[in-house]
Amino acid sequence: MPAPFKCFTRVILISLLALVSAAHAEVRQTSVWWLPRNVNMFGHEIDFIFYLILWLTGVTAVAVFSVMIYFLVKYRARPGIPAIHSHGNNALEVIWTTIPVFIFLALAIYGNEQWTQMRLRTPPADALPVAVVGEQFGWNVRYPGPDGKLGKMVASKVGKDNPFGIDPADPEGLDDFTTYNDIVFPLNRPVRLYLGSKDVIHAFYVPEFRLYQDMVPGRVYDFVWLKAEATGNFQLACNQLCGQGHYKMFGKLSVVEEADYQTWVKSKTPTPTASVEKSNPVPVSLVKK
Ligand code: CUA
Repeated sequence: MPAPFKCFTRVILISLLALVSAAHAEVRQTSVWWLPRNVNMFGHEIDFIFYLILWLTGVTAVAVFSVMIYFLVKYRARPGIPAIHSHGNNALEVIWTTIPVFIFLALAIYGNEQWTQMRLRTPPADALPVAVVGEQFGWNVRYPGPDGKLGKMVASKVGKDNPFGIDPADPEGLDDFTTYNDIVFPLNRPVRLYLGSKDVIHAFYVPEFRLYQDMVPGRVYDFVWLKAEATGNFQLACNQLCGQGHYKMFGKLSVVEEADYQTWVKSKTPTPTASVEKSNPVPVSLVKK
């Protein structure tokens, strides 16, 4: 097949593939061409800095290109008019270097401060702890029982039958309950996440929360927290290519009123790690080692 045809066939094939995967994805109803709505307490600052940078760069781009096009036309080569040799203008150079320096510094300081608020400030003590552990290819989710406390997660104890790395004898873990690919957050209540991974690197990503956190195996990330400010149904997507099933690694995430959240919790029965361990004894081949 001649080269242009080969290329054309490839383009058609890629377009078809893109169409098929788009059909699989959940269709967004609102704001299809722009950012999805924000429902997280921390999202306002992220959106603010996004729009600020967009305006700054947008206005600068329009101004620079307008002046450039005007000068290109005005000073185009014409017969009989000699070219002028310019060696620059020091005052201008200083001005257009100093202004961007201050803009960049301001953006960096503001961004750093917001990041500190989001990730380095200790989550409120009354935050609801929720553990989310990624695996190929789904999300293990663990909620505290009536005691309001999650069993302690130890990254080195994470294993095939113990995705959360919880000591089966830990009394705080006995009333916990777990779900798979199903997360419910109460409205207007801080939620402290405990993120981990069972196998490879995954990422916790919910665009409507403006929240993205990689989950590297061997670590428990306990500094991410959020507060949902609106109810709705969202999708928790894995945002690190983690294997062949990466595309289907998404979970249902909804934000509901506190009363509905309590009803949902009551409908769940505890699934303590202890009973899981008993029904799945460690294989003899592993014990020998
Ligand atoms: Cu997990 Cu991609």
